[in-house]
Amino acid sequence: MTLQIISLDAASHDQREDAAEILMTALGHCPSAWHDMPSARDEVGTFLNNPDRFSFAALEGGRLMGWIGGIRQSRYVWELHPLVVRPQSQRRGYGRLLVQALEAAARGAGVCTIWLGTDDDFGGTNLFGVDLYPDVLEKLAHLAPATDHPFTFYRAQGYAVVGVLPDADGPGKHDILMAKRIGPPEPQHPEAVK
Ligand SMILES: CC(C)(COP(=O)(O)OP(=O)(O)OC[C@H]1O[C@@H](n2cnc3c(N)ncnc32)[C@H](O)[C@@H]1OP(=O)(O)O)[C@@H](O)C(=O)NCCC(=O)NCCS
Repeated sequence: MTLQIISLDAASHDQREDAAEILMTALGHCPSAWHDMPSARDEVGTFLNNPDRFSFAALEGGRLMGWIGGIRQSRYVWELHPLVVRPQSQRRGYGRLLVQALEAAARGAGVCTIWLGTDDDFGGTNLFGVDLYPDVLEKLAHLAPATDHPFTFYRAQGYAVVGVLPDADGPGKHDILMAKRIGPPEPQHPEAVK
């Protein structure tokens, strides 16, 4: 079967419906995510209508297996949001391919950094339920998976933990912030401007 990465703009109506359904089912374990088709459709719609947002979908034989969104936040920074793969088809490489597609687009656009927030609102890490104050960064330094949390997936794709937003989804439910350098910082040549 042929694997294709396409822009969600080019997807058919049925493929966009699949994108909404995958958003709902892949994050079904996360209380703060999308739990009905109307809200999932609305979220998919923002990637079609908002000029700061765009997305790529992975198709296998025409069937949408997963999709990734990008949000242009500045000339140098894009946010990765969201990333979801059809639950029955996870761990087959689609997630990694979608991240690579977003990174290739970012590199082409001269972006320095892609960042993302990966919530732990379901007990996926040892920080779930923990009061992070006052030594927030000290607790973050000991971050570890408790069950199956996607921060380990992102780490394997080269993303570093760069912070945490305490209680982002309610008390003890934190958002783990990660980032990856995409393009080298522009070289500084002080002599050249003398
Ligand atoms: C996280 C997710 C996008 C990864 O996509 P995927 O297609 O399953 O991942 P891949 O098959 O490309 O995996 C690439 C590597 O990461 C590993 N990996 C994948 N998911 C992982 C997870 N949840 N935890 C730890 N490692 C994971 C794979 O084992 C693989 O490692 P390998 O190269 O050593 O074999 C997917 O599992 C998903 O949709 N999860 C639910 C939604 C979600 O949590 N999205 C992220 C919200 S921030």
